[in-house]
Amino acid sequence: MALDKDLDAFKDVQETKTVDATKKLRIGFIGCGWIAGSHIRSFKKQPDVEIVAGCDLIPGKAAAFFEKNGVEGVKTDYASHKEMLDDESLQLDAVTICTYNRQHAGPAIYALKKGINVLLEKPFTVTLDEAVEVCRAEKESGKLLSIGFQPRMDANMKMIKKIVESGELGRIYYIQTGGGRRQGIPFPFGTTFIEDETAGIGALGDIGCYSLDMVLNAIGYPKPLTVSGYKSAFFGKDPSYPPYVKAKHPEYAEKFGVDDFAAAFIRLEGGIILDFRIAWAMNLDTPGDTIIMGTKASLRIPSTECWNGSVGGPMTLYHNVCGEPTKTEIPIIPMKEDLFTLKVRTFLDAIKEGTEAPVPSSQILYNQAIIDGIAKSAAAGREIEIEIPEI
Ligand SMILES: NC(=O)c1ccc[n+]([C@@H]2O[C@H](COP(=O)([O-])OP(=O)(O)OC[C@H]3O[C@@H](n4cnc5c(N)ncnc54)[C@H](O)[C@@H]3O)[C@@H](O)[C@H]2O)c1
Repeated sequence: MALDKDLDAFKDVQETKTVDATKKLRIGFIGCGWIAGSHIRSFKKQPDVEIVAGCDLIPGKAAAFFEKNGVEGVKTDYASHKEMLDDESLQLDAVTICTYNRQHAGPAIYALKKGINVLLEKPFTVTLDEAVEVCRAEKESGKLLSIGFQPRMDANMKMIKKIVESGELGRIYYIQTGGGRRQGIPFPFGTTFIEDETAGIGALGDIGCYSLDMVLNAIGYPKPLTVSGYKSAFFGKDPSYPPYVKAKHPEYAEKFGVDDFAAAFIRLEGGIILDFRIAWAMNLDTPGDTIIMGTKASLRIPSTECWNGSVGGPMTLYHNVCGEPTKTEIPIIPMKEDLFTLKVRTFLDAIKEGTEAPVPSSQILYNQAIIDGIAKSAAAGREIEIEIPEI
């Protein structure tokens, strides 16, 4: 049985808004590496944006980045994000922070304290303490902070939330989420993802944050209470891991300082159990689809081969019709616009309209609390309570 798609229900993300380009927002880039490329392509499409500055810790990298991306007149002669943010002549409205994980909190706090709106790449931070500090800086500043979870913009992701909120599933009591890649440690373009001093967390933060967001956002981000977590790095630390050998970089095994697999059993407020597993590398195709089990129906969301937080195919609703077990397929909704562009556009609209951040830190704080809890529980070798300080 197939459900008809109701594309009108997703007008909010499918419709192209008319943008008032009379007032331009002045944007700066912090970090000009790989993902900044996706950001600049999306910012360049916006008629109400002027990219005025950019910085990178590596001398010359910012200037080369803007030249390569065909953006002229951008000030880049800054040795650090602080120098750029201190330059009041820039009159920045917002910055996009595209630095590696360990450099998320510092630049975000500094920018917010300067009264500048922030789009911050995921994962939010490395530790819960850092996330709390960023949230406090946001609160004090009254400025907007949005976390870069572009899968949120996907109509299919919105469909999951819509199904949950409709009550179709009844009371939700158990959720399994996660995903993984068979040989997908992200190293070929450098080692900032795999070294502890730059990344701080591995698969757990990099792609685990998406899996958590997929389900937590759907169920309204209940508070996490306890966690029993595990993490390992058998593949990342192995010089004979085939992609290292193929790339002639067996020494990356020595540099590998984060996790390549994590799993956890989490209790959420409201009596919901969350069973989670995530892998950058494993001898398996997938550690399982995402499932949301309810008293009236359950939803299966297929995983993807290269886990990146997206819906891997048509979802299936398992419910009863006239008492008979029935399966209903929910087709994939095609997106008209790419998710990065929607992530940037919704951030700019929220600044201009004074509305809530598209991906608010108050929600992602709970996501980060789980990631932090998994790391702490894994280190302690037992279940721990998750304590989230007041902001
Ligand atoms: N949303 C997504 O789909 C997505 C995809 C990939 C990466 N990311 C995230 O983006 C972030 C960056 O990833 P990447 O692949 O671009 O890494 P990268 O190493 O290619 O780029 C990061 C850049 O930031 C610079 N940098 C670090 N600290 C800085 C500071 N304080 N001031 C100025 N520059 C600084 C580095 O020198 C480097 O050039 C990571 O946190 C990652 O999780 C998100």
